[in-house]
Amino acid sequence: MNFKKLLASALTVAMLAGCSSTTPAGSGSAASEGGEASGDAKTYNVGVAIYQFNDNFMTLYRNEIEAYFKTLETDTVKYNVQIVDGKNDMAEQSNQIDSFITQGMDVIILNLVQTSSADAAIEKVMGAGIPLVLINREPLGDNGDESYAGILDNATVCYVGADARQSGTYQGEIVAELPDKGDLNGDGKVSYLMIEGDPENPDAQYRTQFSIKALEDAGITVECIDDQIGNWDQTKGQEICANALAQYGDKIEVVFCNNDAMALGAFAAIDAAGRKVGEDIYLLGVDALDECVEMVNNGTMTGTVLNDAIGQSHTAVDVAVKLLNGEAIENYYWVDYVKVTKE
Ligand code: GAL
Repeated sequence: MNFKKLLASALTVAMLAGCSSTTPAGSGSAASEGGEASGDAKTYNVGVAIYQFNDNFMTLYRNEIEAYFKTLETDTVKYNVQIVDGKNDMAEQSNQIDSFITQGMDVIILNLVQTSSADAAIEKVMGAGIPLVLINREPLGDNGDESYAGILDNATVCYVGADARQSGTYQGEIVAELPDKGDLNGDGKVSYLMIEGDPENPDAQYRTQFSIKALEDAGITVECIDDQIGNWDQTKGQEICANALAQYGDKIEVVFCNNDAMALGAFAAIDAAGRKVGEDIYLLGVDALDECVEMVNNGTMTGTVLNDAIGQSHTAVDVAVKLLNGEAIENYYWVDYVKVTKE
């Protein structure tokens, strides 16, 4: 914990010392003053803003946020969780944050549409005295690292996520561990198509970079045949892969997709082109959506990487509850990725 957090949490404790010792559990924080008390029960209002509902992975994530809050309810503590769809539009999401503030949310969980708007969002939410848990889309610090000032300098702001470098590395390692190390045509190099997520997003940047780095670190020569942006979207993944296969044909040995939704699209294109995963092409994704884990096991996908929606959503909710309880928090919380290959 940095000094500011320590100081702020000491202040919170000092403030709490003034509270009545009969305060019910879960209601002892500055933030929780907004919680509504009715009889013995206290209801906390939780605002959750998702970058867009139309996203397979974030759908699992948000459903689990809601389900997990329910499991934490007791006779005396309830959570009124409102989840809104930013529709991939920062202006829309900004209005939703304003509305959460007007409604007096006790805590906000925010999956930014654009990480470049993190400062504006943090400023607004802090200005309203509401604690904030950022999820899934990490605003990077000036050195491209985990030192974002808005997170380090505010005691009630944190980021919960997974280190996308790890997922990229796992994708590359899965290929490097194949018997032919991804070199299907035996020409001494791995020729690949990269299908990227939203380029502003560190998940896309790191997965693109670290999947290839893992191959190079394993001493494998690589050749980028094509690299296109699919914005995490299945239909775009399909289009990109279909076009690349039409243009470059057998030259493409490996299709790296920054997520599983795009890999599902790429698979449709691979199938339509009469290619066979595992025989004349390899296909990689990230997320480990149920259908993709099934595909890995039946050989129609080479591998994927578990992006732990359950671990991340539970961590985000646990931290939100800590904030509601006035407890000190860390700046960053990390949940590991897991490599998924055929069982
Ligand atoms: C990534 C995930 C993608 C997409 C994206 C949204 O972590 O792998 O499928 O959901 O987040 O930011």
